[in-house]
Amino acid sequence: MKLTLKIWRQENAKATGKMVSYPIDGIEGDMSFLEMLDVLNEELVAKGEDPVEFDHDCREGICGTCSLQINGEPHGPDRLITTCQLHMRKFNDGDTIVIEPFRANAFPVVKDLIVDRSAFDRIQQAGGYVSVNTSGNTIDANSIPVNKHDADDSFAAATCIGCGACVAACKNASAMLFTSAKVSQYALLPQGQVEATDRVMNMVRQMDLEGFGNCTNTGACEIECPKGISLENIARMNREYLSASTKG
Ligand code: SF4
Ligand code: FES
Repeated sequence: MKLTLKIWRQENAKATGKMVSYPIDGIEGDMSFLEMLDVLNEELVAKGEDPVEFDHDCREGICGTCSLQINGEPHGPDRLITTCQLHMRKFNDGDTIVIEPFRANAFPVVKDLIVDRSAFDRIQQAGGYVSVNTSGNTIDANSIPVNKHDADDSFAAATCIGCGACVAACKNASAMLFTSAKVSQYALLPQGQVEATDRVMNMVRQMDLEGFGNCTNTGACEIECPKGISLENIARMNREYLSASTKG
């Protein structure tokens, strides 16, 4: 395949960015999207030019770092996959592909296609954990019965990989789907009840402090989420928040 790539180039968070066009040839349908970018970068390096910076690590849909806006969609045109799992067979010879970083005020550009998603880390640090008594009297987690339905829903929420596609897809740059997944995975388990009130209050407060927008029930986040995180988690977080607020 012969393609034209229009890629966002930006030196750092303060610099003005711009779209730059790169023609590319010899792309196979079985290549992943990131492998296609590897080919481009090898060509740029061979010409003595600055390669395009993009985030990646596992390249198998686990780490959540490979976050690209491809033709206006987070993680590209396919559903329930990350950018590293997107294959070039989804595109046609002669296509122009527009590649941008995830855009949100809370995700400042580091360079080119890499954004700083440490805002998500701070939301997680605000309450996305359980405290465990390790004094020697620790109760084996397996000895606490958990309703199967709740265990399944908790597991589903825990599959969120923190990629940020939900924020990039949202017209409000809301982080409600991410935060609600992290709240839900504990809210559904007995082990999460001890800190439940503080958890939801602190995580929502941090989410607001980071500058993410609010949810207006559009649902774009759920559609673009590579892990199929359900909007039901947002409803659960709202219930948890209301309940925590009334406890003072
Ligand atoms: S909710 Fe989905 S889109 Fe949002 S960070 Fe988690 S995995 Fe990514
Ligand atoms: S590189 Fe890890 S999810 Fe894509």
